[in-house]
Amino acid sequence: MGNDARMTDPEDPAGRTRRFRLPLLTVGAVLVGVFLVMQLVPYGWTHSNPPVTSAAPWPNAEAETIARQSCYACHSNETDWPAYSYVAPMSWLVRSDVDAGRAEMNFSEWDPQDNKAHDAIEEIDEGNMPLPKYTAIHRGAELTDEEQATLSAALDQMASNRSGKGGGGSDGDDDGGSGKGDGDGD
Ligand code: HEC
Repeated sequence: MGNDARMTDPEDPAGRTRRFRLPLLTVGAVLVGVFLVMQLVPYGWTHSNPPVTSAAPWPNAEAETIARQSCYACHSNETDWPAYSYVAPMSWLVRSDVDAGRAEMNFSEWDPQDNKAHDAIEEIDEGNMPLPKYTAIHRGAELTDEEQATLSAALDQMASNRSGKGGGGSDGDDDGGSGKGDGDGD
């Protein structure tokens, strides 16, 4: 600390600059090196979109559009991988969100017997989904009240239809069948 007086000595500003230039360059070089080494980590390299085996039966195009805009990045096999998802460390975060998201619920591998539509309504209502860190970057993914209502209504209809009848869904608000939803523990 005794050196501080010398560093701030107005009679020797050049000397002060020299004292800091080397460490700053070193720190910069180390950071660049770390950044480059991060790119070599294979995790996050793959940007796979497996085939759509069972597309979620959206009851209307409007709801599907909202879901595609706000949920499909992480909950479908139709991920629109952004440019930053190719650069570590963002690539690691994106890869991990997509893996975890697809594992929880996948609109491209939709099983009507799972009670996922019901979970989705809950997550939306609680404001957990779409993930805030995602909407912070993708402003358009944020749900307006109206979009939230449209999406929830559609999901509600899909939840009611999950008994596998595959019918027209004429009576969308039959939500009495709660007894079937026990198998979604994973
Ligand atoms: C940026 C990626 C991302 C987006 C976008 C996103 N999710 Fe998720 N979602 C995740 C991740 C990761 C998990 C698992 C970890 C967690 O719960 O935070 C998850 C979990 C879930 C779950 C399971 C929660 C549970 O604990 O049972 C549901 C349901 C869900 N999301 C619905 C949605 C819906 C509906 C949307 C769109 C309105 C959406 N998500 C948008 C990443 C995302």
